[in-house]
Amino acid sequence: MRWKLVVGIVGGVALLCCGGAGAAIGTAWTRADTDTVGAVDFRNAVRVPPLATSRTDGDGRRVFDLTARAGRHDFGGRTATTWGFDGAYLGPTLRAKRGERVVVNVRNELAETTTVHWHGMHLPAVMDGGPHQVVTPGETWSPTWRIDQPAATLWYHPHLHGATADHVYRGLAGLFLIDDDTAPGLPARYGVDDVPLVLQDKSFDGDGLDNGGAFLSDVGVLGDEMLVNGVRAPYLDVRTELVRLRLLNAGNARTLNLVFADARPFDLVATDGGLLDRPHRLTGLLLSPGERAEVVVRVRPGERAVLRSERPDRHPDGFQGRFQGGSDRFDILQVRAAGTLEPSPPLPAAFGPVDLPDPAQAVRTRTFDLSGTRINGANMDLGRIDVAATRGTTEIWEVRNRDGSPHNFHVHDVQVRVIDPVSPALSGRKDTVFATPGQVLRLAVRFDGPADPNVPYMYHCHVLRHEDNGMMGQFVVVEPGQRPGTPPRARHDHD
Ligand code: C2O
Ligand code: CU
Repeated sequence: MRWKLVVGIVGGVALLCCGGAGAAIGTAWTRADTDTVGAVDFRNAVRVPPLATSRTDGDGRRVFDLTARAGRHDFGGRTATTWGFDGAYLGPTLRAKRGERVVVNVRNELAETTTVHWHGMHLPAVMDGGPHQVVTPGETWSPTWRIDQPAATLWYHPHLHGATADHVYRGLAGLFLIDDDTAPGLPARYGVDDVPLVLQDKSFDGDGLDNGGAFLSDVGVLGDEMLVNGVRAPYLDVRTELVRLRLLNAGNARTLNLVFADARPFDLVATDGGLLDRPHRLTGLLLSPGERAEVVVRVRPGERAVLRSERPDRHPDGFQGRFQGGSDRFDILQVRAAGTLEPSPPLPAAFGPVDLPDPAQAVRTRTFDLSGTRINGANMDLGRIDVAATRGTTEIWEVRNRDGSPHNFHVHDVQVRVIDPVSPALSGRKDTVFATPGQVLRLAVRFDGPADPNVPYMYHCHVLRHEDNGMMGQFVVVEPGQRPGTPPRARHDHD
């Protein structure tokens, strides 16, 4: 990766001062295309993130401790200086049940300020872990809330304004699984037939992860290999006929187009905010940064199946798209089935109704134009509240991708209904939705509160460089007739 940077510098200099620009860009063009298909030897057993331990306090709350710190992580044939929660890289899987009250003691043992945001979680804004809830070095922040949403695969990661891309890239991310009392009849043995897969593209550079960002790319860092749960060239041993994979795209910028190498179908059973109405049979699935999906795949005894990311077919073409990862392909994970497989019960035909906002109830429509690093022409301002929504109401949010870059749109606290476009993968509860250049998303968003006129939630592009550079806005939830207040002044010593 280091020499890519050299090419970048040479190219940049050439562009500025002499006639070699064409050649330099030509070289960069050739190198910008990453393709690992057929070139991954799958020699490392994937690790499954450990389940976080917890205890119950005197108030009956489930208490977790989570410490962010630096360390050295062995990725499998390559060791690097990284950051992690409770370990050197990534973090344990937090798990709690609907109705439970939780406390997470987030301790910062890093040398710089960070935050921890609960992506996909419905909770009070002051507990959200966005850019206003900073945790300074040596400090412990203890958010507490009641889990009040259906079973889902959520995640947590830093959200310090201007530093989110860096902190996530170094390794700060983990899963937060929510369980509920509905019994969907899905494989549910953690690490056995219910396996979380944190997908990240990374590049290594000397002693660490190369956080430089690609030459000519406006999306930030695109790695040249795919890691699963922090493991390079990974394989997963399975011993049941059906395996449920909980997929998280925890990459900074790359949109994945997931398929199996033999084009086998799989069943999509859940997206960001929980189960779909029923399993949907698919052969491919687009997963942009921040999105999750749960799929169930069937294996035959003794076989090998490879999870792959193909070129995203709806990705922008041409010059710019190439430098945004649009022509890249990756072999991600080899699934190795045991010679004898435990039978799995068949998937249920249906899971039941999905809790989604009703567009017929919408009280107003707002538009959000994404372009450059701005939303509606404005860069993020921690002191400005962009939207005040009334508790208990539903709104239509029309999100328009107005430039040549891939973006997506993530809204804190809520799970939206995607009215348009229509597809199985967008039919359930979503908190992050991909938007190709020129695309218009229509979302129904319901604000269930609680109201807090002063502390905002965020909405933003989850391409982390875009977010850091200002493609983010702030909304508060207010009581009927209440006016938005003033955000707390964020202490951000990392600008
Ligand atoms: Cu996953 Cu506002 O973040
Ligand atoms: Cu973006």
